[in-house]
Amino acid sequence: MIPKKEKKAKAFQLVKGMKDILPEEQRYWQHVRKLIARVAESHGFERIDLPIVEFSDLFVRGIGKATDIVEKEMYVFEDQGGDKLALRPEGTAGVVRSYIEHGMQNRPQPVKLYYFGPMFRHDKPQAGRYRQFYQFGFEILGESDAVVDAQTIMVAYKVYQSLNLPVNIQINSIGCPKCRPEYENELKDYLKKRKNDLSEISKDRLSKNPMRILDSKEKEDLPIITDAPQQIDFLCEDCRNHFIQVLEYLDELEIPYVLNPLIIRGLDYYSRTTFEIWIGDEEEGRQSALGGGGRYDGLFELLGGQPTPAIGFASGVERLINQIKENDCRVDDQEQPKIFLAQLGPEARKKALRLFENLSEEGIRVSESFSKSGLKQQLELANKFGVHFTLIIGQKEIVDNTVMIRDMENGIQEVVDFDKVVSEVKKRLEKSVVKE
Ligand code: HAM
Repeated sequence: MIPKKEKKAKAFQLVKGMKDILPEEQRYWQHVRKLIARVAESHGFERIDLPIVEFSDLFVRGIGKATDIVEKEMYVFEDQGGDKLALRPEGTAGVVRSYIEHGMQNRPQPVKLYYFGPMFRHDKPQAGRYRQFYQFGFEILGESDAVVDAQTIMVAYKVYQSLNLPVNIQINSIGCPKCRPEYENELKDYLKKRKNDLSEISKDRLSKNPMRILDSKEKEDLPIITDAPQQIDFLCEDCRNHFIQVLEYLDELEIPYVLNPLIIRGLDYYSRTTFEIWIGDEEEGRQSALGGGGRYDGLFELLGGQPTPAIGFASGVERLINQIKENDCRVDDQEQPKIFLAQLGPEARKKALRLFENLSEEGIRVSESFSKSGLKQQLELANKFGVHFTLIIGQKEIVDNTVMIRDMENGIQEVVDFDKVVSEVKKRLEKSVVKE
C-alpha cells in the first residue's frame, strides 16, 4: 500500500567545487576548444587524450611528495582490485608516462603534443578555482635547445594574444640539479635566520621544501621573500647560457616578459626555465596566473624512462573563459537553426520525423516541437527561434504528399513535393545567406 503522504526526497546538489557547464556556456567552451586546436595544430602539435585515472604513485613521484597537490589535494582511492589510483591532478606526468610506455623516443624528436581535459584537485573552492577543472596543455618532449622553450612560451602567448587579452609572461630559471643545491643551501641559511618572522606554513616548509616558501602568499612572508637570495645569481654556466638564449629568442619573437625570481612553481619536476602567464593590473599589484609551465628534464628518469629533456605549459580553461567574458572578447556564435518543422496530427508527425532526419543528414539544423499539436503554438515557437522558414505538414499535405514552406519574414507560403523539399530548402537557405 502506498503511504498517504510520501516524504519528498531532498533534491541533490552539485558536489562542492564541481561545476555544470550549461548549454548557454557551451559557445565559450566550443570557441576555446577550436582556438586551442587551431593554435596547436598550426604549430605542429598533435592531440593526445589520456585516462583520467592513473596509479597514484605516478603523481607522488612525478609532482613530488612535499607539494600541496600531493600532500593535500589529490583524489586518491583504492579500486576493487586493491590498486591505489588517483584522479589526475594535472596532465604532464601522464604525458611522460605515455611517451615512455609507447616508445615515443623512437619517433622523430621532438614530439609535440597537446591535450584538453578535466583535472581534479581538492583545492579550496573560490572564484576561478574548482575541484574539477579543465586544462589545455602543450608539451614538447625530446629537445633541450632553448629554442623550444621560446616556442612553448610563444604558443601559450598566442592563445591569449589571439583573444586580445592583456597578458604578460613572468619568467625565471630555477637551475638544474648541479647548481640548485648551492642555492637551496644559501636560501635555507637565509630563511633560518628569519625563521621567527615566517608564517606557520613556511616554518613547516623550511625543512621539507624551502624553495616553496618563495611561492608563499602569506603577508608576514612577503618582506622576507623579497629580500631572499635569488636562484639567478647561482646558475651554473650551462643554465645561465640556456636562460640567456631563451630570453634572446623571446626578444626575437617580440614576446614581452618580466623577469620574476619568484616563479618557482608548485610542482617539483621543474628545472631551468619556469614561467607563468599573468593577467591584471601590474601597478595595482593585482595579477593572477592564467597558466604556467616550464622545463622538466629530470621527470623521465623519475618515472622509469631514459633521460629526456622536455618543456610544457598548461592553463585553466575556466579562468580563460572568465577572462573572455570580463574582457568582452568576440566568440563565435553557435549556429542557430534556420528551419522549424511544424506538424498537425499523428500521421503528419510521423512524416515530419522522417523529414527531420532527411534534413539533418544534409547538415541542416532544424528545430521542432513534436510534442505540440496546435499550429498557432508551433508558429509562435518558430518566431521565438528566429528561423527563416517553417515547414508545415498538415492533413492536406499528407494526402497530396507535399510540404508547405512558409517564409517567416513575409508570411508567403508555397507548397512543394515531399521528395523535393530538402533540395528546395537548401536552395532557399543559400539565397538567404547571400542576402545576409
Ligand atoms: P599548474 O600551475 O599547477 O601547472 O596548473 C596550470 C593551470 O591550471 C593554472 O595556472 C590554472 O589556470 C589551472 N588550475 C590549477 N588548479 C586549478 C583549480 N583548482 N581550478 C581551476 N583552475 C586551476 C600544471 O598543472 C603543470 N602540469 C603545467 C605544465 C605543463 N608544466 C609543464 N607542462
